[in-house]
Amino acid sequence: MSIKRIGILTAGGDCPGLNAVVRAVSKNALTHGIEVFGFKNGFDGLVRNEFIRITNETVSGILTVGGTILGSSNIANPFKYTLAPFGTPENPRNLSDVVMHNFKENMLDALIAVGGDGTLHMAQKFVEMGMPIVAVPKTIDNDLSATDQTFGFDSALHIATEAIDRLHTTAQSHHRVMIVETMGRYAGWIALRSAIAGGGDIVLIPEIPYNDEVIVKYILNRKSKGKTFSIVVAAEGAQNEQGETSVARTVAGSTDAIRLGGIANKISNMIEEKTGIESRACVLGHTQRGGTPTAFDRWLSTLYGTKALDMVLEGKFGYMAAFRSFAMSEVKIADAISNLKRVNPHGAEVRAALEVGMSFGSREIG
Ligand code: F6P
Repeated sequence: MSIKRIGILTAGGDCPGLNAVVRAVSKNALTHGIEVFGFKNGFDGLVRNEFIRITNETVSGILTVGGTILGSSNIANPFKYTLAPFGTPENPRNLSDVVMHNFKENMLDALIAVGGDGTLHMAQKFVEMGMPIVAVPKTIDNDLSATDQTFGFDSALHIATEAIDRLHTTAQSHHRVMIVETMGRYAGWIALRSAIAGGGDIVLIPEIPYNDEVIVKYILNRKSKGKTFSIVVAAEGAQNEQGETSVARTVAGSTDAIRLGGIANKISNMIEEKTGIESRACVLGHTQRGGTPTAFDRWLSTLYGTKALDMVLEGKFGYMAAFRSFAMSEVKIADAISNLKRVNPHGAEVRAALEVGMSFGSREIG
């Protein structure tokens, strides 16, 4: 099948490197004489038929720029559409037929969907409806099992690590406990790797339930050894032994409506109350998703984009570009979404953290 016209969209929470993927896909496609339609705001662009015609000028100079020139949305779900004027949170509508219609109307031969877990689920449903889709995995959370690393994660990791470095000096000066809250949803990758890289003392991750008393004991033990400050890195999805997490809000229409958040304040208050040591919470939030991508993410995004276009040319529809053992490969989208990649509590990374004296605030692990 000859490919003459493709669409590309970026969906879900944004992350550094999206523009680099759009650039790589577009430059390669244009070189092959393929027209590129850039749909606005994820699948919303296909619902509303809003797109830009991408030229070499459109993608010139965007390699280093964070965010996405196409816009993104993590609430525009065509299968449960809640946005005005077509739907409401109370009356979500299935507009998947509209998406299929617009795809055909624009005479597109393929769609490249760049997104995380939620986007891949939608992409798979459209594949089952007959849309030729190649997916590219994106998320700062790094929680997709079929790929060693998603682009965006390295940039988020650098931001979190720099924050921990900076918090060290102020914690030391004021003899405080600083609790830094990282993103990551139900996976502890950003927290664990930034805590290892930044020399955090305690790290709380969703995969290893914490216990308040273990945290308190560890901090008081540090104090008794003359260490007058401590750094706690808490993943937003960390849970205690009772399975309680901190939920900040719910977002109607989103594939995962729960927005985690609040753990840093909770732990800070608990530590101050039980140890008498002054504590402060620092929530990194969306700073982890903003700004320029790291060199690694620019490189990885360019490889992902190039691979995705190759897959379109080869007719590998229903597949996702994957990065495994430092090489590009491909996996079925259906397999990529079958389970999340989470930290192994008994794996090498957790062991390395324990070996350098870190605590997970856990009775079982340490
Ligand atoms: O999946 C990416 C992510 O940044 C998560 O780490 C976080 O839980 C969530 O998105 C935040 O979403 P929102 O942009 O809706 O606040």
